[in-house]
Amino acid sequence: MTRTLVIANQKGGVGKSTSVMNLGVAMAERGMRVLLIDMDPQGGLTAAFGVDYYDIRRSAFSLIMYNHVSLARVLRPIRGKLALVPASIDLAAAEIELAKYADRAHRLRLSLQRSRIPFDFIFIDTPPGLGILTANGLVAADEVLVPVQCHYLAMRGVRALMDTVVRVKSKLNPSLRLAGLFGTMYRPNSPHSQEVVSELRDVFGPKFYKNLINYDDAVAEAPVAGLSMLEYMPRHPVAHGYRALAEEIARGRQE
Ligand SMILES: Nc1ncnc2c1ncn2[C@@H]1O[C@H](COP(=O)(O)OP(=O)(O)OP(=O)(O)O)[C@@H](O)[C@H]1O
Ligand SMILES: [Mg+2]
Repeated sequence: MTRTLVIANQKGGVGKSTSVMNLGVAMAERGMRVLLIDMDPQGGLTAAFGVDYYDIRRSAFSLIMYNHVSLARVLRPIRGKLALVPASIDLAAAEIELAKYADRAHRLRLSLQRSRIPFDFIFIDTPPGLGILTANGLVAADEVLVPVQCHYLAMRGVRALMDTVVRVKSKLNPSLRLAGLFGTMYRPNSPHSQEVVSELRDVFGPKFYKNLINYDDAVAEAPVAGLSMLEYMPRHPVAHGYRALAEEIARGRQE
């Protein structure tokens, strides 16, 4: 059975796209068939794989706009067991274009349901904010994964996101559940970072994943080479962090 996870946090720059890329590669390394869907008009995930963002004929936009466009026609094999549905700039108009559909928040879910391609994992990357594209991700998924930057200011928006998850669950997608939250850009030597993590553990208990993703400038360099950290620096602590987090996610539950 396919597990569909949406990576969401309305705050920008917390590591959503980086996490989708690295978790996707980590799951593919584990032999899983993985699909990544880029729902962000900025196309950060698409660009990180070296796909030319300006030369995309079919993207996540075609998938959610047109019933006759199938997943098979929009996805691009990346390498091994990994495939990507790229974003394109026209996603920026989705808010307006989707207004004509009564099922506007369900468009992605419906197109995934129509597809028969077997995947073990689908990861959906969402833009910052809680607009219609993020809503499509939350409705299409069964589980939400929340990256939280290990910084006090970044923690403050997490409550609002939890409220949104509850609202989406009760109104749009009853099968949605919180898979968990994980810390990104963690600085092991910073007392501030440690405090934030300890507070997150207090508040979210076992829902806060054990593995933290460290901060390192190399993480910003890897996409320049079109690579995940697992490929760019396979032994780097961030690569290990994402592998270990992928294992926690694959296990489904934390103790
Ligand atoms: N662990 C890390 N250490 C250092 N830099 C990181 C780390 N994770 C992500 N970054 C960098 O931080 C920036 C934001 O990361 P990313 O694009 O993944 O966030 P995002 O949540 O997807 O942002 P947006 O909301 O704009 O889509 C990028 O330049 C990325 O390379
Ligand atoms: Mg992003």
